[in-house]
Amino acid sequence: MGGTVEFCAMCGIVGYVGPQRAQDVVIDGLRRLEYRGYDSAGVAVVHDDALWMAKRAGKLENLEKVLAEEPLPAAGVGIGHTRWATHGPPNDANAHPHAGEARRVAVVHNGIIENFAELRDRIEADDHAFLSDTDTEIAAHLIELQVQSGVDLTEAMRRVCQQLDGAFTLVAVDAHDPERVVAARRNSPLVVGLGEGENFLGSDVAAFIEHTREALELGQDQIVTLTRDAVQVTDFWGRAAEVTRFHVDWDLSAAEKDGHDWFMRKEIFEQPRAVADSLIGRRGADGLLQLDEMRLADEEIRELDKIIIIACGTSFYAGMVAKYAIEHWTRTPVEVELASEFRYRDPILDSTTLVVAISQSGETADTLQAIRHAREQRARVLAICNTNGSSIPRESDAVIYTHAGPEIGVASTKGFLTQLVACYLLALYVAQVKGTRYGDEIDEIVAQLEAIPSQIESVLEQAESIYGLARDHVGARSVLFLGRHAGYPVALEGALKLKELAYLHAEGFAAGELKHGPIALVEQGLPVLCVVPPRGRDQLHGKMISGIQEVRARGARTICLAEEGDAAIEPYADELIRLPKVPVLLQPLVAIIPLQLFACELATLLGHDVDQPRNLAKSVTVE
Ligand code: AGP
Repeated sequence: MGGTVEFCAMCGIVGYVGPQRAQDVVIDGLRRLEYRGYDSAGVAVVHDDALWMAKRAGKLENLEKVLAEEPLPAAGVGIGHTRWATHGPPNDANAHPHAGEARRVAVVHNGIIENFAELRDRIEADDHAFLSDTDTEIAAHLIELQVQSGVDLTEAMRRVCQQLDGAFTLVAVDAHDPERVVAARRNSPLVVGLGEGENFLGSDVAAFIEHTREALELGQDQIVTLTRDAVQVTDFWGRAAEVTRFHVDWDLSAAEKDGHDWFMRKEIFEQPRAVADSLIGRRGADGLLQLDEMRLADEEIRELDKIIIIACGTSFYAGMVAKYAIEHWTRTPVEVELASEFRYRDPILDSTTLVVAISQSGETADTLQAIRHAREQRARVLAICNTNGSSIPRESDAVIYTHAGPEIGVASTKGFLTQLVACYLLALYVAQVKGTRYGDEIDEIVAQLEAIPSQIESVLEQAESIYGLARDHVGARSVLFLGRHAGYPVALEGALKLKELAYLHAEGFAAGELKHGPIALVEQGLPVLCVVPPRGRDQLHGKMISGIQEVRARGARTICLAEEGDAAIEPYADELIRLPKVPVLLQPLVAIIPLQLFACELATLLGHDVDQPRNLAKSVTVE
């Protein structure tokens, strides 16, 4: 076929073998993975020596309507897919699964097969017709040719994977082998769920958490064969492979909405718990901070002379906050860099550099490639991550897990807050090892962190009045956010939330930078949300007030977030949201909450899909 080729880049994948009706297990799994992509969805089952497939462009509900009218036959083996396309139109033909020429093998795929064109040319010459524009279809044809030659599906998958370039998770079924699902993984996520008399595959554990909490994380270039009673893992060349088993410590209710209209709103309200969970078990019997999974020796930490934080989007803003805390508490220089830019500037790294990669999903391709580059330069890499078994922690020297529980809403909320907590803990741990802060100072900050969950609760109690503010601004065409110091990344994150959810022009600025250009944007009635630093010995508070005066004098409508008891702000705030009193470095933990609520509510009022905003996907597995 000519035209633009369709690549499926980040997508959700489900596989099942067992006694239940495969169609139902697969659709339930896809529902929980839909945040990964929602351009099209499809399912295939094996019954009576034949493949049965259904697929539709658009959200999963479109496929569910088709299946409600015409269910697939009851079968014990099935695969499914929900897709986020990178090129060309998402339509029924390009939806996965894809089948081979004889419709014997069906395949779902996440990733990009880079040499698909060359492989396709090779078999098109043998009269193979392709029904889609996808790179995936070639894999279905090739695997099918292998099983037709007499090898089993596992061996067929191995032989084909050896020919493929690129990043992929492939899951396949063979109509003549109704007892088995086979999958392959290279640079793209896949986990196995271990059941009793049944087994599962998913892009992440949310796909099967309803059925089992026992899981296996697969490594690079591995093939897994699932039958009802066995799971066998080898590498692409058939050698037995090592896998890590883990227990998922959150349950189904964590992956459901619990009465909220959106996962995002539920996740905002879960933040007190998420922060508390991220702090549990961080002190040893001797009272010293301990980071269990932190596999860096004290000697290595003492020798560190530079820390570089790499991340994308919201995680990058968490990194910007971390810079203030790490430099202040440890006196170690910190650079913060967008992961997508990092390796292209030829960064100066060596074994005394610690690279900290922050990623909620653990699968962001830009961040993954950046840590690979860092390790090639002999830097030590520490991941701050929320997803067990994901690629970034697996490829890092050390990890701090954030314990936010599953974050389903595409817009990150509790992921961000728990990343901040992990960054503060890292900073304090380095300070403890390097001796740049006294033990009692560290204890005091940890105690302040432990007080944060109840302080977040007090901000959440103001939700109704923040929703009122959102109602007042439904007609806004543009919104600015101002902050200083650790409040500056909060302003950037507040603006990002509004952009991605409400599709509004929103910009965050360092308040001191306004007069150097951005103030020209201010016009009568423009809403400006201002994150006011706590009053302290420094001049930050006063300088912020000057910035607020400047925009107000030019007609802006100021919505100020300021700590309890701050009377100096009152004359300059058209609206005031009170924040609990916390130290300046920890203020992002409470200041971001009203901005999340504001964006969530405004987007809801505008009629947008808050959990699945247009053009986005939760986990961005393409560069
Ligand atoms: C957050 O609201 C965004 N959807 C996005 O910026 C996200 O933070 C970014 O893609 C990084 O993801 P990660 O933390 O999973 O690496």
